[in-house]
Amino acid sequence: MKIVELPRFGIANLTVQERDVPKPGPGEVLVCLKAASLNYRDLLIVQGFYKPDLPLPLIPLSDGAGEVAALGEGVTGLKVGQRVATVFFQSWQEGPPSLPGITRSTGCEAPGALTQYGIFPATALVPVPDTMDFAAAATLPCAGVTAWRALQLAGGVGPGDTVLVLGTGGVALFALQIAKAFGASVIATSSSDEKLARAKALGADHTINYKATPEWGKAAFGMAGLGVKLVVETAGAGTLAQSIGALGWNGHISLLGSLSGFSTELNVLGLVGKNAHLHGLTVGSRADQVALTQFVAGRGLKPVIDRRVPMVEVGAALGSLAEGKHFGKVVIDI
Ligand SMILES: NC(=O)c1ccc[n+]([C@@H]2O[C@H](COP(=O)([O-])OP(=O)(O)OC[C@H]3O[C@@H](n4cnc5c(N)ncnc54)[C@H](OP(=O)(O)O)[C@@H]3O)[C@@H](O)[C@H]2O)c1
Repeated sequence: MKIVELPRFGIANLTVQERDVPKPGPGEVLVCLKAASLNYRDLLIVQGFYKPDLPLPLIPLSDGAGEVAALGEGVTGLKVGQRVATVFFQSWQEGPPSLPGITRSTGCEAPGALTQYGIFPATALVPVPDTMDFAAAATLPCAGVTAWRALQLAGGVGPGDTVLVLGTGGVALFALQIAKAFGASVIATSSSDEKLARAKALGADHTINYKATPEWGKAAFGMAGLGVKLVVETAGAGTLAQSIGALGWNGHISLLGSLSGFSTELNVLGLVGKNAHLHGLTVGSRADQVALTQFVAGRGLKPVIDRRVPMVEVGAALGSLAEGKHFGKVVIDI
């Protein structure tokens, strides 16, 4: 079987290797992977920026989907041939996050999905319905679950609520699609008018080019009437002031990204005055992924896939994430 391995940090060091197909131990499952998807974190891990002390070699990528090929001793609830997806945090099964729950993640502390056959704990897999193809299923574990939870943390959104999503990356487009499916209005921002037209075709009610409109927070506040209920903050410190400006009273910011930086000088008066909530989050639990998978399948949502590339081209595909030209998810065919 073929795996892609990272023996030393650096995209150029990703190498395709031949290995024997491993055997699952007690409680483990051998999965024949068919597709994986890229997240910005995977790029940071491979470059050595995310966890510089991570033991190597590593099989990268947190998100994958495939078929169960063999079951280890004691595994129940799964069968050979069943379609499954990986989960991001292998020990966070349900409920609120805890330190033990978020210490072991796929494609980082635990081996990832960029392999023809991979071993995963049975508790770190989620069944995939027959109506969902492997490429779509492989987009859910990180970006999909993060968007799902970002919406839940605001107490849920629905008709009469407005959600602001920043940019047109994987998380933002999932948030757009899910919020629309819940009946909320969505304002999407992007640096590109062409991407904004695509966001509109996906269901965005209003769009703002954040380069052409530097005061986009104020613009979003007006478009929503008296501010938005929720900002899905994928960009981080550099955009937080505008996000606070966009918020309505009792509004909520689900802060999850760092594309515009980690630190800034910030006037917090808007948060205080609006009685607003600022909530950080890290992906979600296995139960969140089960709920999301059922929701996506049940509503017939189609995750937005920018392009599909073969396993051997993963290095170039990962590197391209930093250019931000993609719209939605990049999928690796295995
Ligand atoms: N906390 C968590 O659990 C968690 C989970 C998943 C992801 N994340 C983080 O969330 C962020 C987004 O993840 P992703 O997978 O959606 O990334 P992505 O697919 O790589 O998103 C890239 C897009 O973000 C937009 N963007 C970049 N800089 C921006 C800025 N200053 N203001 C507004 N938009 C900007 C751009 O959209 P346009 O081209 O349209 O301008 C860009 O194309 C990353 O920082 C990622 O590491 C965190």
